Amino acid sequence: MKKFKAAVIGCGKISTRHLDAISALENVELVAVCDNKEEAAISTARRYGVKYYTDYEELFRNEKLDAVHICLPHYLHTLVAEKAFENGISVLCEKPMSIDFEDAVRAVRKAKEKNLKYSIVFQCRYNTPSQLVKKRIEDGRLGKVKCGNVTLTWARPDDYYDDSDWKGTWDKEGGGVIIDQAIHSLDLANWFVDSSVTDIKSSLHNRNHSRMQVEDTGEGLIRYENGAIISFFAMNNYLINEPIEIRLCCENGTVRLSYDDAIISYNDGSVETAENEPQKIVTYKDGKEYWGYQHAVQIDRFYKSLAGELPLEISGEEALKIQNIICSIYKSNDSKI
Ligand SMILES: NC(=O)c1ccc[n+]([C@@H]2O[C@H](COP(=O)([O-])OP(=O)(O)OC[C@H]3O[C@@H](n4cnc5c(N)ncnc54)[C@H](O)[C@@H]3O)[C@@H](O)[C@H]2O)c1
Repeated sequence: MKKFKAAVIGCGKISTRHLDAISALENVELVAVCDNKEEAAISTARRYGVKYYTDYEELFRNEKLDAVHICLPHYLHTLVAEKAFENGISVLCEKPMSIDFEDAVRAVRKAKEKNLKYSIVFQCRYNTPSQLVKKRIEDGRLGKVKCGNVTLTWARPDDYYDDSDWKGTWDKEGGGVIIDQAIHSLDLANWFVDSSVTDIKSSLHNRNHSRMQVEDTGEGLIRYENGAIISFFAMNNYLINEPIEIRLCCENGTVRLSYDDAIISYNDGSVETAENEPQKIVTYKDGKEYWGYQHAVQIDRFYKSLAGELPLEISGEEALKIQNIICSIYKSNDSKI
């Protein structure tokens, strides 16, 4: 069995999901980690028993890598992905692909030119309830989505932003609740509709975060070529993290979906439900519950695609769809934020 050589760039909060998953996979060898904060690089390298770098270009020059996992602030995602492609390395990058649509398009083009794999993490697609809803839309039991509604009411208090040197800024995070938190549920809704976006209207506000620049509240409407509409409301100035909710009205029934469960009520009176099943690849050492547990599934499938055992899922091209929506939400914002 080929053992792929991998490195993780960015040793912050989400990196443990990637590092734990890689460590559990038989066909992947974690070679090194990289963080420009030497302390973070050293402690992560010690924890996982690998080399460390503080400069990703040096990492690319010194190690013969098959893949890198990009766990960096948003504004660095496409820059580092393109450097990896120039060095012949495939990329699994954390969401979002970028804070700029054209940068994302360029990175996709570069991966294609170099014949390398490029995938973006949207682990919520692998939740059991999300998989069931997608399957029922595709097999016709639910049929096409006619309209939907996405709601996110989460808590990201001031200290969440105070603790970061990039979150809450337009130039480094690229936005707030929409690009960072609601991106997952908007991606799910868009994946379910599976049509081209024709128009987006949005209104973004900062209602209760005096020390950050970006929006903590966003609402809007997405129109699709096939006639479907998705409305959304997201805020991260709530006091607790409520379950996200996606409601869909489809040709043959309605859906109520969260990350943990789905209730499908068919027009013929029957009901189908699903609860999220834990993945069996790894027990993560730490992390936030609201990240879910499916990173390891996407990471495992990414390496299976590198091995030629599976087609690449959530490819750069596929992720451009949600990237376009996110960038259009910011562009069409009719408020002054
Ligand atoms: N999929 C999910 O559910 C999920 C959850 C959390 C975070 N994320 C994403 O993961 C990414 C990282 O988020 P985080 O919360 O771990 O952020 P973080 O700030 O905790 O970690 C980022 C790390 O990158 C390092 N870094 C910054 N510039 C660097 C550079 N030039 N070279 C090397 N290292 C550098 C920082 O020192 C820091 O350790 C973001 O894209 C975020 O949106 C995804």
